[in-house]
Amino acid sequence: MKYQAPKGVSEYFPPRSYAFEKVKESLLAPIRRAGYKLVELPVFEETELFTRGVGASTDVVTKEMYTFEDRGGRSITLRPEGTVGALRCIIEHGLDRGALPVKVFYSGQYFRAERPQAGRYRQFYQVGLEAIGSEDPALDAEVIAIADAGYRAIGLTKYRLEITSLGDRQSRAAHKVDLMKYIDGLTLDESTRARADINPLRLFDDKREEIRAMMTDAPILLDYLSEESASHFASVQKYLQDMKINFSINERLVRGLDYYTGTTFEFVHEMLGAQSAIGGGGRYDGLMQEIGGQPLTGIGFGLGIDRALLAAEAEGVVNAEDFGVDLFIIPLGDAAKTQTMILSQELRNSGHRIEIVFGDRPLKSAMKLADKNGARYVLIIGDSEIESGMVEIKEMSTGRATSISLTSLVATLAQESWTL
Ligand code: HAM
Repeated sequence: MKYQAPKGVSEYFPPRSYAFEKVKESLLAPIRRAGYKLVELPVFEETELFTRGVGASTDVVTKEMYTFEDRGGRSITLRPEGTVGALRCIIEHGLDRGALPVKVFYSGQYFRAERPQAGRYRQFYQVGLEAIGSEDPALDAEVIAIADAGYRAIGLTKYRLEITSLGDRQSRAAHKVDLMKYIDGLTLDESTRARADINPLRLFDDKREEIRAMMTDAPILLDYLSEESASHFASVQKYLQDMKINFSINERLVRGLDYYTGTTFEFVHEMLGAQSAIGGGGRYDGLMQEIGGQPLTGIGFGLGIDRALLAAEAEGVVNAEDFGVDLFIIPLGDAAKTQTMILSQELRNSGHRIEIVFGDRPLKSAMKLADKNGARYVLIIGDSEIESGMVEIKEMSTGRATSISLTSLVATLAQESWTL
């Protein structure tokens, strides 16, 4: 029997997993630096949370949820996204009863039963954040700037930021009247019309050419923004300009989830083909209330780690080879092995990345292994080294060797001049 991972899941193993970690840490660092606090959340929730929260017109809810009955007969769904679970936690534990905004972040696996293709998986990874309880447009700009800083930290440059505003309730109501009138005049199949009835904006997001063509003259939400929404959106843009964050306005931007209102954005990478959205997010005015919380507004984003990694590889900015160990110790003989165990323990305790060779390999094969594992330095310990009390550390890239006494090894390597 030969087992395989389930169809369409992404998984990471060495050496690529090093690059995955680097990308994830790069996305997380700016979030932490802005004072967002970690929430660790369950990967499954009551199904109803997602149907209510994510929205009945979305592909995510109608076609892509992994839903099953648990042993107690409850309907459970593997989380297709992170926002509603984070809000459920905030509401359940009253985190929104203290100082606002509540600022949380998370990362982990998400599940959507999509048709797998490059950059689109059934289990994928996101880093995300949510800020609840402030309408300040500066918060919108901060959230966008944090995502941008994450992509910069990875080293990405070939991406663009698209933003729009989906307006407040008043703006959307006015737009909806005209949009529905427009859509009523179109010849649509039954399921498309049903989707449009729940959320007419979704037709802007339709991938089919014929629907796209039909929608070219459709009324645009940005033309219907209330004074308040328009001035909020103008402030967000002004902050972004002041912070020198490039963006363009995409008046047809529609996100795949139903809860968005007001500022909405997406980061799109140029080198990823069809699955080019590396991250996105926006405001969601009614969502807290929809799932049983206070009437507080919120904003957040989800950044796809898998796609950010693909983008980093396409741009050639992450390199799995960068992630080898500092020092590889090769013991030759029993006494040397004991010495190696003690040394590696001490050096690791002082923060160095140390690997040792197991299984009494011959020197030549041990050196090959060190090279393969990306060792920067190699230390060989045999009987003669133990006898003389002197060892040589060899730098792999230059072949240069330095003699150090065994007794002072730990102290020497702790010095600044050693970049171990
Ligand atoms: P989303 O746009 O559905 O938003 O997902 C965010 C990102 O996750 C996407 O831009 C993409 O990079 C990645 N992603 C989504 N689906 C897949 C997939 N099947 N395979 C690989 N990557 C994928 C959300 O999930 C919202 N919760 C974001 C948010 C937070 N909005 C407000 N707060």
